[in-house]
Amino acid sequence: QQDLKGRILELNKMAAKYFYYQLRTENGAQAMEYLKGRRLSDETIKGFGLGYANKYSDDLYRYLKKQGISDELLRESGLMNVDERHGMYDKFWNRVIFPIMDVNGRVIGFGGRVMGDGKPKYLNSPETKVFDKSRNLYGLNIARTSRQKNLLVCEGYMDVISMHQAGFKNAVASLGTALTTQHASLLKRYTDEVILTYDSDAAGTKAALRAVPILKAAGIAARVLHMDPYKDPDEFIKAEGAEAFQERIDKAENSFMFEISVLEKEYDMKDPEGKTSFFNETAKKLAAFEVELERENYIEATAAKYHIGFDNLRKLVNRMALRG
Ligand code: GTP
Ligand code: MN
Ligand code: MN
Ligand code: MN
Ligand code: MN
Repeated sequence: QQDLKGRILELNKMAAKYFYYQLRTENGAQAMEYLKGRRLSDETIKGFGLGYANKYSDDLYRYLKKQGISDELLRESGLMNVDERHGMYDKFWNRVIFPIMDVNGRVIGFGGRVMGDGKPKYLNSPETKVFDKSRNLYGLNIARTSRQKNLLVCEGYMDVISMHQAGFKNAVASLGTALTTQHASLLKRYTDEVILTYDSDAAGTKAALRAVPILKAAGIAARVLHMDPYKDPDEFIKAEGAEAFQERIDKAENSFMFEISVLEKEYDMKDPEGKTSFFNETAKKLAAFEVELERENYIEATAAKYHIGFDNLRKLVNRMALRG
């Protein structure tokens, strides 16, 4: 069993090297152009070990067979698709390749992106004996050595890479999957504070709202970066640069304040009734803070944010606490 894991890791390394090499040949010229078009420097491309999977769906298969790799090991690696009609063939072809490393820098899986608008946009390795998506974070092998007081958690490969290139080497991604309790305990080994930098769309907002209590339960404080008007960190940095991004980090909202900003959007704040309902809901949430001083601090911050009286809000919160 242990031996199988070791053999898969060896095989992954071999594949990663092959992809890396292909990106630098004539075959990979278009992929290189794609990456350059996304403003990645040679140093960045090298640092993340980016590669290219050739156009032919048996390219890696043939290469690995020549190296004497067994079909059985190939099957275990997740590098191949297997179906009755075509037998075994490459999972990744004609895609830019992102090797995924564990905290120790071992290649545990791959992501592959189409160059352009094809679908699916990304393919990821399936879970294997060495790749558990719920226990690994992309970029953590580098971010863990960044010596920052917090970690930036985002959605995607390109977000991590752009942030690192802009100097934010404390960025990691959960790669499209929701943040799990295992991710949170992994993060907790390196930090007590996470800044969520998910996409600003509905899916990203939802993911942030879900991540907050999971982080809290692991003893990690969460703040949420305001990405508007951009979609994700990659687009933000490309448009506004590193300094502006740092300003957003400095201004990142406390997770509770973020939660109520999201809640606010559900109500018509111009209508007295809508506004009252919003404050009732908010007061319920405030009532849930069990430590009195903490509750008071949040009441104060909320009252200030919405320009209402502290005492009024506190009364409402106390009423909600009695009800609850
Ligand atoms: P770019 O368009 O290259 O900037 O990608 P993105 O990271 O902005 O894409 P998006 O916000 O749509 O997705 C975030 C992450 O989810 C990606 O980095 C992938 O890890 C994952 N993801 C996105 N699209 C797909 C898909 O079609 N299939 C799978 N399996 N994962 C995806
Ligand atoms: Mn899992
Ligand atoms: Mn997204
Ligand atoms: Mn995105
Ligand atoms: Mn993007």
